[in-house]
Amino acid sequence: MAISVLVPLLTLLSLHMAHAGDPDILTDFQLPLGAANITGDSFTYTGLRALIGANPQNFTVFKATMAELPALNGLSVSYAALYYPPGSVNPLHTHPRGSELLFLVLGSLEVGFVNTTNYLFNQTLQAGDMFVFPKGLMHYQYNADANSPAIALSAFGSAAAGTVSIPTAVFNTGIDDPILAASFNTDDDTIDKLKAGLSH
Ligand SMILES: *[C@@H]1O[C@H](CO)[C@@H](O)[C@H](O)[C@H]1NC(C)=O
Ligand SMILES: *[C@@H]1O[C@H](CO)[C@@H](O)[C@H](O)[C@H]1NC(C)=O
Ligand SMILES: *[C@@H]1O[C@H](CO)[C@@H](O)[C@H](O)[C@H]1NC(C)=O
Ligand SMILES: *[C@@H]1O[C@H](CO)[C@@H](O)[C@H](O)[C@H]1NC(C)=O
Repeated sequence: MAISVLVPLLTLLSLHMAHAGDPDILTDFQLPLGAANITGDSFTYTGLRALIGANPQNFTVFKATMAELPALNGLSVSYAALYYPPGSVNPLHTHPRGSELLFLVLGSLEVGFVNTTNYLFNQTLQAGDMFVFPKGLMHYQYNADANSPAIALSAFGSAAAGTVSIPTAVFNTGIDDPILAASFNTDDDTIDKLKAGLSH
């Protein structure tokens, strides 16, 4: 193939591969069909006020995605505020449609993700630090401090990054015990114990 054809072709291909956000929209924004009275309110979300002064007992995520703020549709961004009581974990999970950039505002956190050839990249963050979890890769955050909570803010490169919780997806969706036991090279009793710890 002539180089004059190959170069534009490769350029097109790499442009296509570089496209990392949600599909582009052809309008300024895209509110749900039939939305009347578009005002400042249409672009406002106040659900995270619940975070201010909150003191939850358990790990808690306050999400601001397209589901909570429909104006995010097509804009390739979303947000979450995460509250970690002492000793709590945000269990292993992935975001299939977006990378996550976490900013630790308070406390300390142990974080990590595993790449597609099973190499763990981990870090201990202190307040003021950022950590990026690449799209689709399994990751966690853990507040190892027994006395102090941690608070983080996370930005996502998708209006609906999605969350697949590994413990729930594996052990809490009705996959038959023999399949799980064979997958983990263990017995049904062990699988049942893992399941019991998740059913609440
Ligand atoms: C739109 O806003 C106007 C002025 O605030 C109000 O009178 C009207 O009831 C609103 N219509 C709808 C469908 O909410
Ligand atoms: C916190 O988690 C524990 C253990 O899973 C549960 O028993 C308790 O109800 C939770 N507390 C709140 C406030 O959700
Ligand atoms: C995963 O990380 C390891 C260590 O840096 C590296 O050798 C390996 O190539 C990485 N895998 C991929 C798919 O990037
Ligand atoms: C990363 O994890 C290893 C265990 O695999 C641990 O020994 C190490 O302290 C961790 N590093 C950081 C920076 O948290």
